[in-house]
Amino acid sequence: MFPSHVTLVEVGPRDGLQNEKQPVAAVHKIELVHRLQAAGVREIEATSFVSPKWVPQMADNTEVMAGIVRQGGVRYSVLVPNMKGLEAALPTKPDEVVVFGAASEAFSQRNINCSIAESIERFAPVVAAAHEAGLKVRGAISCALGCPYQGEVSADEVERVVKLMKQIGVDHCGVADTIGVGTPRKVQLAMERALKHYPLVEVSGHFHDTYGQALSNIYACLEMGVHTFDASVAGLGGCPYAKGATGNVATEDVLFMLNGLGISTGIDLEALVDAGAYISGVLDRPPVSRVGRALLAK
Ligand code: HMG
Ligand code: MG
Repeated sequence: MFPSHVTLVEVGPRDGLQNEKQPVAAVHKIELVHRLQAAGVREIEATSFVSPKWVPQMADNTEVMAGIVRQGGVRYSVLVPNMKGLEAALPTKPDEVVVFGAASEAFSQRNINCSIAESIERFAPVVAAAHEAGLKVRGAISCALGCPYQGEVSADEVERVVKLMKQIGVDHCGVADTIGVGTPRKVQLAMERALKHYPLVEVSGHFHDTYGQALSNIYACLEMGVHTFDASVAGLGGCPYAKGATGNVATEDVLFMLNGLGISTGIDLEALVDAGAYISGVLDRPPVSRVGRALLAK
């Protein structure tokens, strides 16, 4: 029942860094991507083409994309909230784009300044144009396990957005726990709804680790056969529009668990820990990753 291989989508350069108050130079973001791909990571969310007024840290998106020396077999994705974002992203030649909606109205308004229905209207031409350009489109559904403004979010609310994303042709459905409040059974219930409309290979989990539940939640997804997860090296991250949201689950911690379960990923733990140590050095603080800390202390 457990998958034999898991794909880890590294979101550190985007989700991990978007919330940093101090500007992180593009050269460091680029070096981080280089270290991640050298460690064997094959899917990297490199940056986002959002409004620089909303997220100043991602204003260097074009520079970052241009500076990455691409490695064969690695897929580079970027976030695009609207046509303007897609138009800016296309010349930088991403392999995939990510549209991001929410299961709660309140979060949709705060994060992308529109209702869920309006967001879907906005995404539809983005999806069509991305497909025309030969790009895969992933969809992220924020607040699938709880919302900082609305509180509880039901599986019905999640499925509503899953269906809307499917209707406009989004290829992949990412179930996101923006504020890390999900627990294993609740996560399974949300995943079941995603799996009603998308095949296993096109469903993923994106878990922030605010309440320390992310590894358990990933384990619960593995039990269902889900085999794609977003994670952020060193446990970097948070969403600027979700107060108190801490980083994504640390990629090192997920990898350590998967290694222990005998599940392959193609990623080298030591090299990944080095990548985490590198970016933590740039940010001048220790990695949040427990595995990273343990191995660096050896
Ligand atoms: P808006 O203000 O409603 O947009 O923002 P607008 O269309 O009215 O435009 C206002 C200004 O923004 C204009 O400039 C536009 O040109 C500019 P002005 O005329 O004032 O000079 N603009 C843009 N500039 C660059 N790139 C663009 C773009 N679009 C408009 N793409 C908008 C709407 C969606 C743009 C804004 O709300 C926004 O950028 N939001 C992004 C918020 C964000 O990045 N959040 C974090 C990422 S999502 C996340 O972390 C969750 C995830 O990890 C999953 C999870 O954990 O839940 C994925
Ligand atoms: Mg996130």
